[in-house]
Amino acid sequence: MALLFGEEINPETLERWDKEYFWHPFTQMKVYREEDNLIFERGEGVYLYDIKGNKYIDAISSLWCNVHGHNHPRLNNALLKQVCKVAHTTTLGSSNVPAIVLAKRLVDITPPCLTKVFYSEDGAEANEIALKMAYHYFYNRGEKDRKYFITLSNAYHGDTIGAVSVGGIEIFHEAYKPLLFKTFKLPSPYLFCKEKYGEPNEECKQELLRMLKDILEKYHKEVIGITLESGIQAAAGMLPYPKGFMKGVESLAKEYGVLLIVDEVATGFGRTGTMFYIEQEKVCPDFMTLGKGITGGYLPLAATLTTEEIFEAFLGEFGEAKHFYHGHTYTGNNLACAVAIENLNIFRDENTLTHLRPKIKHLSKRLEEFWNLPWVYDIRQLGFMVGIELRKPNGEPFPYGDRIGFKVAYKARERGVFLRPLGDVMVLMMPLVIKIEEIDYVLDTLKWAIEETLKGSS
Ligand SMILES: Cc1ncc(COP(=O)(O)O)c(C=O)c1O
Repeated sequence: MALLFGEEINPETLERWDKEYFWHPFTQMKVYREEDNLIFERGEGVYLYDIKGNKYIDAISSLWCNVHGHNHPRLNNALLKQVCKVAHTTTLGSSNVPAIVLAKRLVDITPPCLTKVFYSEDGAEANEIALKMAYHYFYNRGEKDRKYFITLSNAYHGDTIGAVSVGGIEIFHEAYKPLLFKTFKLPSPYLFCKEKYGEPNEECKQELLRMLKDILEKYHKEVIGITLESGIQAAAGMLPYPKGFMKGVESLAKEYGVLLIVDEVATGFGRTGTMFYIEQEKVCPDFMTLGKGITGGYLPLAATLTTEEIFEAFLGEFGEAKHFYHGHTYTGNNLACAVAIENLNIFRDENTLTHLRPKIKHLSKRLEEFWNLPWVYDIRQLGFMVGIELRKPNGEPFPYGDRIGFKVAYKARERGVFLRPLGDVMVLMMPLVIKIEEIDYVLDTLKWAIEETLKGSS
């Protein structure tokens, strides 16, 4: 029995109501309604428990946002302490204590060029804000002809219309094409390099940068900026860039006077082994967007960080109307910001990133074993982010409708591992606190699930 506000609801009723009333995101509801689905009721560390009492390792960090584990006493406490003061006060023209402190803390831990923090609730909004601010920055400077962004094929920045416009995953974005603004697109670095050079190497990086330079050479006066995910195209199936690609993009952006928008929504808060991936390439963008792990996976909060120069272009007398006309009801929410501060405190007090290093190494080593499986076409890893791409042994993709990735994930549930694939790419994005023996259990289970699902297939 699930207990909700003192009322007991049995699992069958919940399953029925779930299918009758709840439209799930990124979910084919016809299929969902025909299947048995997980309904989670509670969590403890890296484990989730469903309404039937089954226990699962959360190997995808609740869609890539959980950091220190579920039901964390310190995060719970931070939330409780704040809720006993006040849950929400508007930040439109007034302020609140946790939002101020968090802004300072974020500026302290990000590269020195980023000095201002604009809050929102989800990664897509953080990107939407960066796009609008970038456009508006030039507008306020009188450069009103700039209307294009340069983006990457297979990019994913969220599901609002601006974020979709700079995105490039056909299957998600195809239907909305008539509503989107026009962009210049470079190929997906990983896919391009793999096809042409066999791997994302230096030569390929140089070729991609030449393509970018060609676009900038012709159109830089109309270009607002370049948008890209940091280090890896995550939602496209964990596709890492060639090393140094982002640094090269940064130099070209500077050379041609266009803005660089780096999306750290998936990679931020330790996922790649450093707090932010840009630290590894010593990149300092004009905008950096954050979400997901910012509250340790507790509450919806996102942030767009930017520079003094961008901020100053919005300053003026009230009557000049140069300010950024954008905001949400819950912008800078007190509860979310209080939990986000404690999330950073835990990183500091528990040396989360130091403890992560041997886990990343262990993961790399163990992933080698997966090459022995005939259905493993590619294995990609950036820090603690992993994608294992499954195909037929002859290298052909499985038909989309066969849902092989989902079938493998459902099989893994039988042994208590919760996964959500990206197509036929099995994603591992475990909470940073997971222990080595739990990583081993996830990997053993995944290997077993792939074999069980695909043995006998051709
Ligand atoms: C790189 C990146 N940006 C933005 C988003 C969108 O974030 P949200 O789902 O919080 O809107 C995601 C989500 O997966 C992402 O991976």
